[in-house]
Amino acid sequence: MKKIEITTPITLYDSVEELPLDVQDLMMEAVKIRDTAYAPYSKFHVGTAFLLENGEIITGNNQENAAYPSGMCAERVAVWQAGSQFPGVKIKTIVITASSKNKPVKEPIAPCGGCRQALSEYEIKQKENIAIYFMGETGNVIKTESLHDLLPLAFDKSFL
Ligand code: THU
Repeated sequence: MKKIEITTPITLYDSVEELPLDVQDLMMEAVKIRDTAYAPYSKFHVGTAFLLENGEIITGNNQENAAYPSGMCAERVAVWQAGSQFPGVKIKTIVITASSKNKPVKEPIAPCGGCRQALSEYEIKQKENIAIYFMGETGNVIKTESLHDLLPLAFDKSFL
C-alpha cells in the first residue's frame, strides 16, 4: 500500500485588472453573455467565453428548462458550439463568470463536475492544455493551467 498526494496548482488574482489584457477582454465577453443567461429557476447566471487558436471567440450561457435536467450549463453550451462549428480548432483559453439574482457572488465559481468531464474530452483530443480562469461577479479570479488540474483521475478514452 502506498499513499500518493495529488495537488492542484492554481494562480489567484485579486481582481480582473490583474489578468493579462487579452484575458480581461475575454472575461468581459463572458460577463456580457452571463447577463443574458436563461435561468428563471435558479436565478444563477453563468457566462463563459472560449478563445480558439484561430482567434475566434465562442461564448455561452446556461439555458434552463422547466423539466430541470433538460437544462444545460454555460460551459457545455459553449464547448459543443466550438466542437461543432470549429472542429479540429484548438481551444486555448476558457473564462467563466457567475452571478445570482438572489445574492452577491463574491467567490470564484468553478465549473461543475459534469462540465469538467465534458471539457476534459476536448483537452485530451487536442493534446494541448486549456487555461481556465473563473470568477464570481467580479473580484478574485482563479486560474488553472489545464482541465487535467481541475479533474485529476479523469475518465478518458484509454479506459474503453
Ligand atoms: N451552471 C453552469 O452553467 N455551469 C456550472 O459549471 C455550474 C452550474 C448552471 C446550471 C444551472 O442553470 C445553474 O447554474 C444552477 O446550477
